[in-house]
Amino acid sequence: MPKLTVPDLLTKVREGTPLSMITCYDYPSARIIDRAGVDIVLVGDSVAMTVLGNPNTLPATMDMMVVFARAVARGCEHAFVIGDMPYMSYQVSPSEAVRNAGRFMAEAGVDAVKLEGGRNMVEAVRSIVRAGIPVMGHLGLTPQSASMIGGYKVQGRTGSAAIALLEDALALQEAGVFSILLELVPARVTEVITEKLDVPTISIGSGAGASGHCQIFHDAIGMFEEFTPRHAKRYADVGATIRAAMESFCQEIRDHTYPGPEHSFKIDRQALQEFLTYAQKRTEGNS
Ligand code: KIV
Repeated sequence: MPKLTVPDLLTKVREGTPLSMITCYDYPSARIIDRAGVDIVLVGDSVAMTVLGNPNTLPATMDMMVVFARAVARGCEHAFVIGDMPYMSYQVSPSEAVRNAGRFMAEAGVDAVKLEGGRNMVEAVRSIVRAGIPVMGHLGLTPQSASMIGGYKVQGRTGSAAIALLEDALALQEAGVFSILLELVPARVTEVITEKLDVPTISIGSGAGASGHCQIFHDAIGMFEEFTPRHAKRYADVGATIRAAMESFCQEIRDHTYPGPEHSFKIDRQALQEFLTYAQKRTEGNS
């Protein structure tokens, strides 16, 4: 299957096919996700939490994101890959935003970038798009500003907050984004924003009315045993599968079942004889 492009994604939505989007941070998962036919793969700054165990996304850096994004991009022959711009890689100035977006494209080989924010980020978006790099916007719960917006909670629940979201979405569209991710926005607000926009929306925890849907890979496959957010759906229990496999591995080592002869390698008779003779002489020499 050929590599998906922005026009391909827009055509799918125009023809009534919702887009599928999942996060990914490594090559083997990317190969599996790509073969499964997912449309968009996001190398999210959520890697700082899901893979690196931090309490939030702020410790993600450009250098780190480029390494993860490169691995994922190598694994995706078909899926459209987006690099998530980490904290302070685009907020300082539009020129830094362009430089860092360019690093994602040139060093990691992604197809687009994503950044958080609305009207406050239109200059950065405009500059990146002007440089020929597709941008996905991100509104609603924007984890990089969780401290300012009051934590990890649903956004746009008051009339004025919902209006602000719509205005942010329209401003991002005007600045040139090809799509907007809506995170933890009430379902009805998502429906209205999606109706008012020409570009597709992608929902994560924002209801069924968006043009596409996203999940965090580790939530979708059950890799987080401690916590699953309300909006996430588990399609597999990979955590339990891995735990059972590791329990069997330990047990087989303890009871001498693993490794068996089928996991070992042979030396030919003559070489063995030579080796044994040498080993024997070596120990005699030492005694
Ligand atoms: O970093 C990330 O994984 C995200 C999610 C909200 C999709 O931005």
